[in-house]
Amino acid sequence: MAQSTAISAGISGSARFLLDCKATGQSCATNARYALPNLESKSFLCGQNAGLRNKAILRQGANARTHKATLKERRQVARATAAVKEPAVGEKAGVVENGKDKERVMIIGGDGYCGWATALHLSARGHEVAIVDNLVRRTFDDQLGLQTLTPISSVHTRVKKWKQIKNKDIKLFVGDVCEFDFLADAFQQFEPDAVVHFGEQRSAPYSMIDRSRAVFTQHNNVIGTLNVMFAIKEFAPQCHLVKLGTMGEYGTPNIDIEEGFIEITHNGRKDVLPFPKQGGSFYHLSKVHDSHNIAFACKAWGIRATDLNQGVVYGVKTEETSLDEALINRLDYDGVFGTALNRFCVQAAVGHPLTIYGKGGQTRGYLDIRDTVRCLELAITRPAKLGEFRVFNQFTEQFSVRDLAKLVTEAGRKLGLEVKSINVENPRVEAEEHYYNAKHSKLIDMGLEPHYLNDSLLDSLVNVAIQYKDRVDYEQIMPGVSWKKIGAKPRTGVALAKS
Ligand SMILES: NC(=O)c1ccc[n+]([C@@H]2O[C@H](COP(=O)([O-])OP(=O)(O)OC[C@H]3O[C@@H](n4cnc5c(N)ncnc54)[C@H](O)[C@@H]3O)[C@@H](O)[C@H]2O)c1
Repeated sequence: MAQSTAISAGISGSARFLLDCKATGQSCATNARYALPNLESKSFLCGQNAGLRNKAILRQGANARTHKATLKERRQVARATAAVKEPAVGEKAGVVENGKDKERVMIIGGDGYCGWATALHLSARGHEVAIVDNLVRRTFDDQLGLQTLTPISSVHTRVKKWKQIKNKDIKLFVGDVCEFDFLADAFQQFEPDAVVHFGEQRSAPYSMIDRSRAVFTQHNNVIGTLNVMFAIKEFAPQCHLVKLGTMGEYGTPNIDIEEGFIEITHNGRKDVLPFPKQGGSFYHLSKVHDSHNIAFACKAWGIRATDLNQGVVYGVKTEETSLDEALINRLDYDGVFGTALNRFCVQAAVGHPLTIYGKGGQTRGYLDIRDTVRCLELAITRPAKLGEFRVFNQFTEQFSVRDLAKLVTEAGRKLGLEVKSINVENPRVEAEEHYYNAKHSKLIDMGLEPHYLNDSLLDSLVNVAIQYKDRVDYEQIMPGVSWKKIGAKPRTGVALAKS
């Protein structure tokens, strides 16, 4: 029942979206008056619309000095001044352009795995942070009968505990970014300088459970991101959108994967074009669509954005989430939301054989959650320029599933665990042996100092798993969602566990 409620909520959101579209369609038409940009080098650049708007705000600002300006007016004038003084377009991406090292950062999806760790990391470093989340990730667990390995507190308790420990406020907006009125209100109240958008349905298997989950995933992710773009355009045109994409958008082509763009020569002509995308699930394809929508919005409206194509994240502890049990992060090990390395560590801890899908040659980029939070900090403090659409590949090392199984087996052995592996029928449609070489130098050039996967990290992950092993539900470990068997009929949580 809970499941159908959530999904019908998505559909009513879609009806509202159609209404929103009618309204925003008018404002798109208005903006079409402004000249469209050139495609220059590796970025889409256009600041004309925003430039006109800023100059108008500055003129108002001059008038405002003759009367007592409101706080909002003063903030607008300060931002417009910064934007008008912006360096010429085409300068190297990654340079601090507005000179601010403390930002007002809205974290959409801030109750989730990456979002919670990032919210604390940024708050600890003096940024003003607001979390926007509709808590739907917790609802997915309720729908499917899952629970995180670690006992996470409610988002309200988390935020209160952070205040007690650090005396820092994190504002909380509980609601759905697919509801534009809610999002608009949050934007107007918080006035973000940067929005980090983690707030999507992020599991490939979840999107492949059945038709309704595929529809929910694409609706939630694509419409949510569209709404964020429109909120920036309408209420915070200087705001930097930092959007979480995934390395899975690229698929596994038989050539090197570039960071976002590739130079192609075709029939004697040359161009720099977005790197081809080959998403491997309805979830990955929602991210591909997001990327295209954001690139277009940067070009057409002159907003600024960074698309972070993130690899698979592992680990549970960051400096901040380790401060108190009430701040602990979630750790998913089940077949729907668990990611490879986290799953293997939990499997090793409870004596379940490591579940290698197919031949295990599937190679992907991985990163420690401590690097996720640092990458976000780097992207925010060195923002994209107005009109720029930047793409960074956010991972630090590549491993095949077989490599990971070997590393976890070895780490388990050192801890006195006997770790076995099994090859299970691959529930996904993917190459099991393939070429993989993805570039990932831009964040390193900006100052990322990676935490590489080593024995001590694996020990600490396995030890966290041992600490909470009584919470492990063995029935949730094997994969229960098949890419080929996805059907139109809704599947309940119970049916999922049994299959
Ligand atoms: N975890 C990974 O390994 C990984 C890898 C690559 C990319 N990513 C991307 O990073 C982002 C965060 O991933 P995560 O692992 O933290 O996921 P998560 O599911 O733990 O967190 C996502 C959060 O967003 C919220 N949310 C979802 N839809 C929302 C909506 N419509 N309105 C408001 N809030 C909403 C959820 O309630 C949840 O708290 C996702 O976009 C994901 O695709 C994650």
